[in-house]
Amino acid sequence: MALMFLSETVRAYRQRDPAARSNLEVALCYPGLHAVAIHGLSSFFWRHRFYLLGRMISHAGRFLTGIEIHPGARLGRRFVIDHGMGVVIGETAEVGDDVYIYHQVTLGGISTQLGKRHPTIGNNVIIGAGAKILGAVVVGDNARVGSNAVVLQPVMPGATVVGIPARAVERNRVAPITKPSFVAYGTPCDGAPDPLTCQIEVLRAEILALEARVAAFTQARAAE
Ligand SMILES: CC(C)(COP(=O)(O)OP(=O)(O)OC[C@H]1O[C@@H](n2cnc3c(N)ncnc32)[C@H](O)[C@@H]1OP(=O)(O)O)[C@@H](O)C(=O)NCCC(=O)NCCS
Repeated sequence: MALMFLSETVRAYRQRDPAARSNLEVALCYPGLHAVAIHGLSSFFWRHRFYLLGRMISHAGRFLTGIEIHPGARLGRRFVIDHGMGVVIGETAEVGDDVYIYHQVTLGGISTQLGKRHPTIGNNVIIGAGAKILGAVVVGDNARVGSNAVVLQPVMPGATVVGIPARAVERNRVAPITKPSFVAYGTPCDGAPDPLTCQIEVLRAEILALEARVAAFTQARAAE
């Protein structure tokens, strides 16, 4: 079972990280994969109440990978931690399936109370490098959190949030932009089946948005 989970995670790296060239390379050179494997072991002991052993294995994992995952955290399937260094995942954090996070992401607490105090991350969420998600907030399925964002409030499914404190990105584009379900780095055209067409669509949308702004500006001037 554990091997099956690991092999599907290796496949997830291959599919989603353009830098991953072979399964062997992922197995040997991706600390995120090693951290998830070590977490499987540490959480086994934690769940069987061998708390100190669980913590010691987790600590060894942190030493080896630079990624700190508390043995009490619950991780979904095909969880990809890209680069990984500096990632911290707290004791009561929950991570859904097909989540993709980058280095220096924190799923942290803001309270010293016992009980649920870390975030719950939905399925298929992307969390950019350096983002901090703090408290028992829920990040909905398919959401994207921009690099260096600090999330303190729940994030709606499918939303993109950026900044400190994180706010939803206003999508006032007038033409539809087709986005694939996962895009490396969370940006629309990288990894798109046809990046050129995607870029053209983005440019077309930008032009239409500019035209709309110019028209509104002209109308406002005429009304003065
Ligand atoms: C958040 C993110 C997913 C948005 O991508 P997108 O849908 O292409 O969004 P856009 O580039 O159209 O940006 C939308 C708006 O958000 C702003 N924005 C985007 N990313 C931001 C960020 N990380 N912090 C603050 N503002 C950001 C843009 O400036 C833009 O603002 P505007 O509407 O005022 O012009 C992407 O920018 C991101 O941060 N991805 C993570 C990448 C990463 O961590 N890479 C590490 C690789 S090692």
